[in-house]
Amino acid sequence: MTISFDQFVDEAMEILNINLRGYKIKRVQRRTDSLMRRYNIEDYGQCLELLKKDQDFRNAYLDHFTINTSEFYRNPQSFQYLEEKIIPVLFSQNKVVNIWSAPCSNGAEPYTLAIMLTELGYTKSQYRILASDIDAGILEDAGKAIYNENAVTNVPPALLGKYFEEIEGLSTKYKLSSEIIKKVTFEEKDLINDPYEKGWDLILSRNFFIYLTTEIKEMLTYKFVEALRPGGFLFLGNTEFIFSPEKFGLQKLHSSFYKKI
Ligand SMILES: C[S@@+](CC[C@H](N)C(=O)[O-])C[C@H]1O[C@@H](n2cnc3c(N)ncnc32)[C@H](O)[C@@H]1O
Repeated sequence: MTISFDQFVDEAMEILNINLRGYKIKRVQRRTDSLMRRYNIEDYGQCLELLKKDQDFRNAYLDHFTINTSEFYRNPQSFQYLEEKIIPVLFSQNKVVNIWSAPCSNGAEPYTLAIMLTELGYTKSQYRILASDIDAGILEDAGKAIYNENAVTNVPPALLGKYFEEIEGLSTKYKLSSEIIKKVTFEEKDLINDPYEKGWDLILSRNFFIYLTTEIKEMLTYKFVEALRPGGFLFLGNTEFIFSPEKFGLQKLHSSFYKKI
């Protein structure tokens, strides 16, 4: 049965239990089309039928839809700003600093924080790092913490030697030390539909807003601000901006950093 892309989206949302309309729709269509080409699926009707009856295909769709690209110290200058200007303030104000990486993908981002805090001499009892993502498969990878070369390009060589073990194979892989792995807690969460825990001192929501519609981006900005404690910080990706931050009760600090007023 031939159906329009619009009809496909409405039914696929029910089957997958994910708000496809929260994402930029052209991108949803591009991702759907490229997956259909890969599986030689001829039309949206056939694609829907497969989503209905084939769990493996449902997983493949979700896996293809969620772009999991991530790396350690992504945008190094922003992490330098975080280390020099934000982290000292947070630890001077709080006995325990609460940090949330949302979404966290393969864990490179929250683990970067754990490495940074360890290097700065903070102990596990002084902070909590929670990392959330909708994609169960990528969270499993995050737990294993084995990365390819691309993911660790920005890790300073001394830290690469200190916190990663090189695994030789067809291509070199890097296994993160268990000392760092145990400093991060992972959870499966849909950031569009699920409620947020409150009281965070720092929230990283990086390279996520770029995929969302303006309405959902606004809604999530309100949710993140509500989840921050007053004086807490929101850290976005380098190409993401909040227009009129004061409307959300935020003050812009420095390129991707905002402070809750
Ligand atoms: C490009 S990665 C960003 C990872 C990391 N923050 C970074 O900047 O490197 C985007 C992540 O968003 C996740 N994602 C997409 N929709 C989501 C949703 N509704 N709730 C939670 N995570 C979601 C994807 O699974 C993917 O891992």
